[in-house]
Amino acid sequence: MTIAHMVIGAGGAIGQALTAALASRFPEDTIYAVARYASVTPETAQNVRAIAMDTGDDKAVGAWLQELKSQGVQFQRVVCTVGVLHGDVDGVNLQPEKKLEDLSADKLMAYFAVNTIIPTLWVKNLVGCMADEHSSITCLSARVGSISDNQLGGWYGYRASKAALNMMLKTAAVEYARRNKGTALVSYHPGTVDSGLSQPFQANVPKGKLFTPQFTAEQLMAFLDNVTPAHSPYFTDWQHKPIDW
Ligand SMILES: NC(=O)c1ccc[n+]([C@@H]2O[C@H](COP(=O)([O-])OP(=O)(O)OC[C@H]3O[C@@H](n4cnc5c(N)ncnc54)[C@H](OP(=O)(O)O)[C@@H]3O)[C@@H](O)[C@H]2O)c1
Repeated sequence: MTIAHMVIGAGGAIGQALTAALASRFPEDTIYAVARYASVTPETAQNVRAIAMDTGDDKAVGAWLQELKSQGVQFQRVVCTVGVLHGDVDGVNLQPEKKLEDLSADKLMAYFAVNTIIPTLWVKNLVGCMADEHSSITCLSARVGSISDNQLGGWYGYRASKAALNMMLKTAAVEYARRNKGTALVSYHPGTVDSGLSQPFQANVPKGKLFTPQFTAEQLMAFLDNVTPAHSPYFTDWQHKPIDW
């Protein structure tokens, strides 16, 4: 049996920082850095293995994970950073909606495809591939995905797709408790992090509250040190404070 760790969406700002943090924290283990484009996942450390694949290809993901399993690889820490707030998804231009008239079926489907369905398919394919003890699967969610915390409105597609991701994790946690007992599931809000995703929305961020991806990676790594399947699933923020679902 070989312990490994993985970042899915390793080409993004948080994904790159997490890959580096895992590589230095676990120098003896392999860190699989999975991204859609090989060029954005440089093998930044000796123990990082860059994997270029379509992270939304359910069959390819499943086959690859089963191949690793047959080689005796078990994952300890898996973090899926995949998410979109604005920009182009397969020809559909996304901008967070301000009012109901901004909604459209193709935009909503694009939000759900990336923010809900891709992370969920990884959670599906990882069952049976996780280490028996002290393992975790974390999905980068967002506080705006909290149904009970929604005071401001707007951002329909992003909010709803993160809320749906949270529901997927909550549901999968019931099954993981039976099938991969040592694995905790985590829905994580990183705060506002300096990245392409947040860039157009950084103007109103209070001073000192725009975090670097490196700080984000450190906060998440510290949180994961203390997770336990007994309290799974978690919905938590960067200060390690629980968020109401
Ligand atoms: N930045 C913030 O302030 C903030 C706040 C709350 C939550 N988050 C969440 O944190 C996560 C990481 O965000 P980030 O700030 O690091 O943003 P980022 O640099 O834009 O990274 C986004 C990631 O999502 C993947 N992705 C984007 N569009 C995709 C598509 N169409 N199909 C498949 N994968 C796609 C990319 O994967 P590849 O590596 O394969 O290219 C990339 O790794 C997201 O889930 C985001 O919702 C961020």
